[in-house]
Amino acid sequence: MGRLFDFMLPENMSPLTADYTDGLFHFINEASTIVLVGITIALIYFAIRYRRKSSDDKTPVITHNNKLEITWSVIPLFITLIIFSWGYKGWLNLKAVPDDAYEIHVTGFKWNWAVSYENGAQTLNEIHVPQGTPVKLVMKSRDVLHSFFVPDYRVKQDVLPNRYTYVWFQAEEVGESQVFCTEYCGTSHSNMLAKVIVHEPDDFKNWLEMNGGAGGSGDPVEAGKELVNLNGCQACHSVDGTPGIGPSFKGIWGKEESLADGSTVTVDENYVRESILNPGAKIVAGHDNVMTPYEGILSDEDITNIIEYLKTIE
Ligand code: CUA
Repeated sequence: MGRLFDFMLPENMSPLTADYTDGLFHFINEASTIVLVGITIALIYFAIRYRRKSSDDKTPVITHNNKLEITWSVIPLFITLIIFSWGYKGWLNLKAVPDDAYEIHVTGFKWNWAVSYENGAQTLNEIHVPQGTPVKLVMKSRDVLHSFFVPDYRVKQDVLPNRYTYVWFQAEEVGESQVFCTEYCGTSHSNMLAKVIVHEPDDFKNWLEMNGGAGGSGDPVEAGKELVNLNGCQACHSVDGTPGIGPSFKGIWGKEESLADGSTVTVDENYVRESILNPGAKIVAGHDNVMTPYEGILSDEDITNIIEYLKTIE
């Protein structure tokens, strides 16, 4: 059923979480419209009806009117209470995750969303979920504050370092919904995007099985490539020479890099290792110190594999 302000809302893809929000959104907008139209009509009427008609028209002295003042205080009080209790019920609904919700872990970091599933499957900037099933996302940040927002589901939640937060939703239709980061988190904040991809329950099971059990191909170059993909390195470092927030990986191996302090460095194992663990130590000229340190996130073996992969990008 179409309502006056439907055009302002994205499609409702998760009625269990969105219905409260949408109902209240429409109520506030429609009530405000009625009040706006009423006040405007009264304003125009009074301006015409009581305009000054002759030079000896005199404004009477009015001190107050109890009846009128109580009326215009009590009616807005009730409207405010309605809006408050409606909003509070909606908030409780967003916080009360169904017991049978399917859990997926999401980690925000500058400037990507890393996702991991029960069987070890991992994705970057794609959250695969089963249709018609309540899904709970358990979220944390690796660096600064981010915020996880899916307009189609009307869910939004800050994502913090050193603490878990969560959202839940139940996508009713197969398809995709856009995820935004809605907390300013640095240079590439506006590109910190992801998609929720909704599968039929059986398709989801198949997808999960096919992607389960992380890595382990044994080939260091392949393993390094997978690490570069899963950690979102390409958000800032291209592999085809395109300029980005960080230096491109193309042809980087063995290169003399000019640094911001005027010195130069040869791109070798130790330089790459240092730049991953402590990115601020040597900044390449023309770039800013914006990368998150991967100390404690990537193991020595991971770094060795990434180095082997970087050597192959020519
Ligand atoms: Cu993450 Cu903005």
